[in-house]
Amino acid sequence: EKGGYEHFMIKEIYEQPKAIRETMTGRLAKDDSAVLFEELKWTPEDVAAIRKIVIVACGTAYHAGIVGKYFFEQLARMPVEVDIASEFRYRSPLIDDSTLAIVISQSGETSDTLAALKEAKRLGARTLAVTNVVSSSIAREADQVIYTWAGPEIAVASTKAYTTQLISMCLLAVYIASLRGTMPAERVKELIRGLKELPSQAHELLEDVEPIKTFAQKYGFNEDVFFIGRSLDYAVALEGALKLKEISYIHAEAYAAGELKHGTLALIIEGVPVIALATQRDVYEKTLSNIKEVKARDAVVIGLAMKGDEQLQKYVDHTIYIPATDKYLTPILTVIPLQLLAYYAAVTRGCDVDKPRNLAKSVTVE
Ligand code: F6R
Repeated sequence: EKGGYEHFMIKEIYEQPKAIRETMTGRLAKDDSAVLFEELKWTPEDVAAIRKIVIVACGTAYHAGIVGKYFFEQLARMPVEVDIASEFRYRSPLIDDSTLAIVISQSGETSDTLAALKEAKRLGARTLAVTNVVSSSIAREADQVIYTWAGPEIAVASTKAYTTQLISMCLLAVYIASLRGTMPAERVKELIRGLKELPSQAHELLEDVEPIKTFAQKYGFNEDVFFIGRSLDYAVALEGALKLKEISYIHAEAYAAGELKHGTLALIIEGVPVIALATQRDVYEKTLSNIKEVKARDAVVIGLAMKGDEQLQKYVDHTIYIPATDKYLTPILTVIPLQLLAYYAAVTRGCDVDKPRNLAKSVTVE
C-alpha cells in the first residue's frame, strides 16, 4: 500500500506533482486565458456582493489560508482575514451576508473548522469549503465546495493536501480577480502558464534529495531551528516549522524576518540552524539584511533561493534552489524541500514518521 516507499509521508510527498496536476485538471481554459470553476459559476454580480473574505482553518490548512490571503489581496484586491478555527468561533466575528467565509480542511471533519463554518453560516455569510474529502461533514455543510483532488492522505503530517490547497487558493483568487477585473488578461495568462509548469517543476525538486538528506543528518540532532522569511516566504516558513516540530520533535519557530530583532534574535547563537527563505524579489534586500543579522551571530544558515539567484549563496552556508517560477507560485515549490527536511530529520532521529506522538490525522475533538 506504500507503493515501495518506507512511509506514507514520503510517498505522499512524491505524489505532489500528480496531485497538483489533478487539482488543476478541467479548471484552466485551453488557451490559458481563464480559470474555470464549473462548480461555482459565479457572475460578476455575485462577486460584487462580496465585501470581505474570511478564511478559517486549523494547522497546515490555516497556513494555506495565510498564503490565500496574499493571493486574494494582491490579485483580487479583496480585504481578507485569516483565522484559526478555534479562535474565530469564540470572538464574535464581524461578518454578515457580504462576507465570503472560506474554510479549508483536508479531512473535512475537523470539529473546530466545522463549528466555525456553522457559526459563519449562522451570521449570514456565504460559505465555501476547500476540502479533499468528498461528502465530508464540511463539504456537506458549506454552500459551495471546491475539492482539492489530492487523493487520500494517510500520513498524519499533511503534505500533498497543503500544496493542493495552495493551488486551489491561487485558482480561486484568479477566478475572483477576473470577475472583478483586477488582473490584466496578460497577467492571468502568465500566471496560468506558471501554474501549468508546476507539476514538472515539483518533480524536478524531488529528483535530487541527497543534499537535503545530508542537511537533515547533519543538523537533525539540534534541538532548536528557526525559519525566517518575508511575505509569501514567511507563510511557507510557518508550515516548514510546523512540519519539523510535528514529526521530528525538534523545537522550531518561524519568524517574519523583519521581526527577529524584536526579541527572537536573542536566541540566535553560534551553530543554531536558520532556514532562510529568500524567493521574493520585492523584499529581497530586506531579507538579505536579516540573513546578515543571523550570520553575524554565527548561526548556520540554509538559504532557499530561486534558480538564477547568484547572490544569496555568498551570505549563507548552504543554498537550496527551487525552479524559477512566478512570485505567487513559489510557496508550492519552496515547501517541498522543507517537507523533505522534516521527513529526513525525523528518520535520522528514529521517529515514528507517519504517526507522530500525541497527534491524530483527523481532529474531531475541540
Ligand atoms: C499538520 C496537520 C494538521 C492539520 C490540521 C487540520 O501536518 O496535518 O495541522 O492540517 O489538523 O486538518 P484538516 O485539514 O483535516 O482540517
